Amino acid sequence: MGKLRSLLKGIIPENILSKIPSSYDIIGDTIVIELPTSIRDYWRSIGEILCKLHKHVKTVYVKVSGVKGDYRIREVTPVYGVVKHYTIHKEYGVKMVVNVPNVYFNPSLGYEHHRVANLVDEGETVYDMFSGVGGFSLHIACRRNVTVYASDINPHAILCLTLSTLINKLKGCIIPILGDAKIIASYLVRSVDRVIMNLPEKSHEYLGYALKCLREDGGIIHYYHFDYSISSFLKHFIASISTYGGRLVKIVHTRKVLEVAPYKYLYVVDAYVIPNF
Ligand SMILES: C[S@@+](CC[C@H](N)C(=O)[O-])C[C@H]1O[C@@H](n2cnc3c(N)ncnc32)[C@H](O)[C@@H]1O
Repeated sequence: MGKLRSLLKGIIPENILSKIPSSYDIIGDTIVIELPTSIRDYWRSIGEILCKLHKHVKTVYVKVSGVKGDYRIREVTPVYGVVKHYTIHKEYGVKMVVNVPNVYFNPSLGYEHHRVANLVDEGETVYDMFSGVGGFSLHIACRRNVTVYASDINPHAILCLTLSTLINKLKGCIIPILGDAKIIASYLVRSVDRVIMNLPEKSHEYLGYALKCLREDGGIIHYYHFDYSISSFLKHFIASISTYGGRLVKIVHTRKVLEVAPYKYLYVVDAYVIPNF
């Protein structure tokens, strides 16, 4: 039995214990947990026990919807502790300001941010098309002397990223931009070495724009997509690159990043691509 469940023994009825998940998101000093509405009467007690279990946690939210809308946000409701929106989350020493109810944030992406940042060379120009609060951008600029353009349509996410640039010791420069990646891309034509495309449901719609941003002699695209298998994912990527006028020179790396649902995974491919137009 998980630690949370064993602490709840004797506080909530036995038949409800099995409905308590063993995992939840810890974002800075905030916990976000998924609990069934059928046990709503116990949400507060569960929040209280979570705060006892994680002494640094000040706020507990329960997820009340799936990820939705263009901002990819989940609705959450506060159930215990201090009601506040902002927290500072740390990944590999990188500090990220997160407005929990108003931005997309997944603490399971920490290793992926770190992995991509380690691939970037000094002096590169990078475009983080769907930056959110800037996980990739911040990891990169904390490690390398680079220029990162980071765009998002969610003003709360861009504010978080801007605040994070003030509390980290950056080696590089981040330019946070509030706007649609399709429009921002038209200002970055043939000027970047690397594009990060982390909008998994819709990345393919933006591939043509990403290709336009790469220099004439090509560059790296980190392309994220949901699929059920790596072979289906690569088939989709290879077809999309040619549809949007790119020449695939090399698949440098590919990996399963996360399992998001049964038979639904988040995959990434790091590919060297040349725009053919
Ligand atoms: C999956 S989240 C990005 C997560 C982020 N890369 C990270 O690692 O934490 C996708 C983001 O894309 C943004 N978005 C959606 N459509 C967009 C568009 N057309 N242009 C720019 N950003 C967009 C959403 O607001 C959301 O913050």
